[in-house]
This record gives sequence, structure tokens and C-alpha cells, in this order.
Amino acid sequence: MTVIVTGGAGYIGAHIIRLLAARGDDVVVVDDLSNGRADRVGDARLEVADLAADSTVDRLAALFREVGARAVIHLAARKRVDESLTRPTWYYRQNVGGLAHVLEAMERADVPSLVFSSSAAVYGAPSSALVTEASPTAPMNPYGETKLAGEWLVRDAARAWGMRCLSLRYFNVAGAGWDDLHDPAALNLVPLVLGRIRAGLPPLVFGSDHPTPDGTCIRDYVHVLDLAQAHIAALDHVALAGAVVDDDAGPGADHVLNIGTGVGSSVLEVLDAFAVATGAPVVPELLGRRAGDPPQVVAAVDRAVDVLGWRAERDLAEIVRSTVRAEVAAR
Ligand code: WQD
Repeated sequence: MTVIVTGGAGYIGAHIIRLLAARGDDVVVVDDLSNGRADRVGDARLEVADLAADSTVDRLAALFREVGARAVIHLAARKRVDESLTRPTWYYRQNVGGLAHVLEAMERADVPSLVFSSSAAVYGAPSSALVTEASPTAPMNPYGETKLAGEWLVRDAARAWGMRCLSLRYFNVAGAGWDDLHDPAALNLVPLVLGRIRAGLPPLVFGSDHPTPDGTCIRDYVHVLDLAQAHIAALDHVALAGAVVDDDAGPGADHVLNIGTGVGSSVLEVLDAFAVATGAPVVPELLGRRAGDPPQVVAAVDRAVDVLGWRAERDLAEIVRSTVRAEVAAR
């Protein structure tokens, strides 16, 4: 099957295209290389394009026809919460506008299936211990809003012309499936902690008085290779099975799946995992709460198991071990 992967030169995309190539799919990557790197796409064809530019629609439609694309995995997006707060219009143009262009090109070229990269950021600060796909959506920043608007746009396009689609709500993605595919951007907790340890500095803990057992925030850390495997399962589901827009699943929950582990880990538990993986004690610096941090965000994963037959196989220890291993290998 010929699969288009937008954002395929990025951290998550590079894992997905490696799995696709390994099973013999033809992969075409569309990426603006703003964060992606050409040396991560392997033998896949790479088209460098700005998805937010109007002229890209014609180019994409021609590309999709030329290669006989059967599916798109749409990952390309801006993903910095802080930046989205200062540049909201740009985030909407990039994330919602870019998606609209991809969908227009898919309609014109008769590409029947889509897997869309969404985020647990659509939930904001959940009030329940585990969030299900039917939990209320209340994003707390423009980044999360663009992901929720993207889900709606995908659903509406599917209803309008029968495209098959799934939107995957990623929880906290980390780790490395291969040593050369580690996350090069130190924006999230796991890479930030390793950076501090390597610089001989104490990792920072944002808040130790949250309403959680040890006072630090709890998240659902999912290994990037598990996430990549979820995309393969989602791709096969939309490409091979019937339509998946399901109005009975609950408001807003029609075609969305949580992609997490179902297990929550606190910031201090992440630091403990680093102490084990590096063999050295990790002494944190406790700071005040970071604005807008919900105390606990953990996925209910039953729907992904039911729909895809997919379940995360790797735990926090493996996420941290693989992060450390990849950093050592890159020296
Ligand atoms: C995790 C926990 C911090 C750094 C964000 C986005 C989300 C998604 C992933 C996707 C929090 C704490 C962090 C540090 C710390 N984006 N922390 N010390 O905030 O759960 O989710 O990234 O593309 O949409 O909102 O992830 O990794 O920033 O933080 O104590 O140096 O670690 O307070 O509790 P978050 P994160």
C-alpha cells in the first residue's frame, strides 16, 4: 500500500515510516523540515512542502495521484503549548489550515483513508482519574484547541465524502525505538530530565503540592515505538475495515482513540526511573507549580484495545532506558 506520512521526518514520524518500510509499504514523506530531518526518512521519497500554503493543495493532489496514495497519516503540526499562546493565529493556520489542505487534496485525488495525530491536550484538566474518549473536551491552550478543531474537521470531511478516519489522542510520548531516532528537542519532561542530568544540574520538578500521592503531577507516558505501532494498527483499520465514524460512541468520541498505557507515573517516579537507568542518584530541585498543569492525566485504553487490538507493551522503565541508551549512542 502507498502511504503518505506528513511530518514523517520528525521524531514520531520517523518511527512510523521505519515500521511501514519494514513491512513493505511504499512511503512518501511530506515535511517542511522545520523540525524534521531529511536523514531520518531512510529510503522513503521526501517532498518538502509547507502544508499551510494555499498552493500546496494542487501539489499534494498531484502527488497523491502520481503515487497512487491509499492513505494519509497526518502528523505534521506545531506542538509547543507556550508558542501557541503567543502565536494563536499562526497555530490555527498551521495546524487547522494545514490539515484542511491535506483533506482537500485527499478529496480531489480520491484518497480514502486518514489517520490524524491528535492529543490528550484536547481534554484540558480532566476531573476523572482516567479519561475516556467520551470525557469532556476542554483544551486549555490554542495548541489543544487546534487539535480538537482538527478532529472535528476530520469527522466532518469523513461524513461529507465517506473518507475513513481515526484520530489518535496521544498521551505523553517519550523514549526511542531505535538509538538514531531519539527525540532531539528537549521540550518535554523525559528529554529535559536527561539534559539536566548530563549537564550536572538537578532536574526541575514543577510543583510538589499537587493533589496526588507524592504531590507531583501524574501523566501517562507512552513509548514512541508503541505509539508508532498504534498508527500501523490504525492505518490497517481505516484502510481495510469499514467506515469508523460512529455516532453512538458519545458526543465528540465518534472516531477518536486514546493512545496511552492506562498507567500513570508521577514526576518523581520518572526521576526514580532515571536513577535506575543511569545507576546514579537523581536529586531534584522542587519548584512551584507550572501554570496550567493538570494534576493527573491518564488514558483509559479499552477503546484502542477493542477497535485496534492494540495495547502498549513497554513501561516507564523501558521508556527511560531507551532514552538514556539513545543519548549514549549519539555521543
Ligand atoms: C510532564 C509533567 C510538568 C518539565 C505537554 C503538552 C501536551 C503534549 C505533551 C504534544 C508535567 C512536569 C516538566 C520539567 C517538570 N504535547 N515537568 N519538570 O505538560 O503533560 O504535556 O506535552 O505534543 O499537549 O501539554 O508534558 O513533558 O511538559 O510535562 O516537573 O522540567 O512534567 O509539570 O507535570 P505535559 P511535559
